Amino acid sequence: MRIGILGSGLMGGKLGTIFSRAGHEVVFSYARSKDKLNKLARDAGGKARAGTPRDAAQDADAVLLAVHWSRVDDVVKQAGDVSGKVIISCSLPMNADDTGLVVAHTSSGAEELAKKVPEARVVSALNTVPSEVLFDVFERRSKATRPSLVYCGDDAKSKTIAAALIRDVGFEPVDAGPLRIARYTEPFALLVAQLAYEGNDGPELAYRFERFGK
Ligand SMILES: NC(=O)c1ccc[n+]([C@@H]2O[C@H](COP(=O)([O-])OP(=O)(O)OC[C@H]3O[C@@H](n4cnc5c(N)ncnc54)[C@H](OP(=O)(O)O)[C@@H]3O)[C@@H](O)[C@H]2O)c1
Repeated sequence: MRIGILGSGLMGGKLGTIFSRAGHEVVFSYARSKDKLNKLARDAGGKARAGTPRDAAQDADAVLLAVHWSRVDDVVKQAGDVSGKVIISCSLPMNADDTGLVVAHTSSGAEELAKKVPEARVVSALNTVPSEVLFDVFERRSKATRPSLVYCGDDAKSKTIAAALIRDVGFEPVDAGPLRIARYTEPFALLVAQLAYEGNDGPELAYRFERFGK
């Protein structure tokens, strides 16, 4: 697939690198320096390259949105026409100092994003794990037991693409339902962050759901 990365920081940089190593054609965009984007593309190998948000979105089979909530409007504007595009958002609707959600309970960041870009197909995914686990999960992807990763969205075809990419990273995708379920997955992401960064075990934390009974 062609994957455009909008926001090449901790999440976008690592996920773009993994997607490239998994064989996808990746365009890294949106960082404060072009040098950083070029270095990410070089280090990712394969067919990765650096570009503008517009380059990243154009011809992409999927776009990863990985910016702070305060940068969403800007990067979406720079991306240009996203009609029909699959946007996989790992962005959480955090306040300026990352201490709380600015959208919750009766809506979610994912739903607000879908309202901003009604012509796109939004999936909420890859935001319930700390970036620190991503390379380890990718390295261990051939093991029998994979960590779970929840995702949600309203469009079946986009969810199939998101699930394939989640699997490429090394997780077992868990379909949590329609996009409104992001009202629950986004606060869940904060629980994981609490355990990862303020608990005793450090950020190298992923999770696994087990099904019991029928
Ligand atoms: N990090 C995690 O573990 C984690 C986990 C779950 C969800 N999330 C969510 O994922 C999203 C991204 O998080 P992150 O940790 O990857 O953030 P980040 O490291 O700060 O990455 C954001 C990217 O946006 C770029 N950027 C910021 N302001 C810009 C500007 N004015 N012009 C151009 N580029 C700009 C940054 O550029 P520079 O590279 O130059 O700084 C960076 O590449 C957030 O919504 C966060 O809530 C993060």
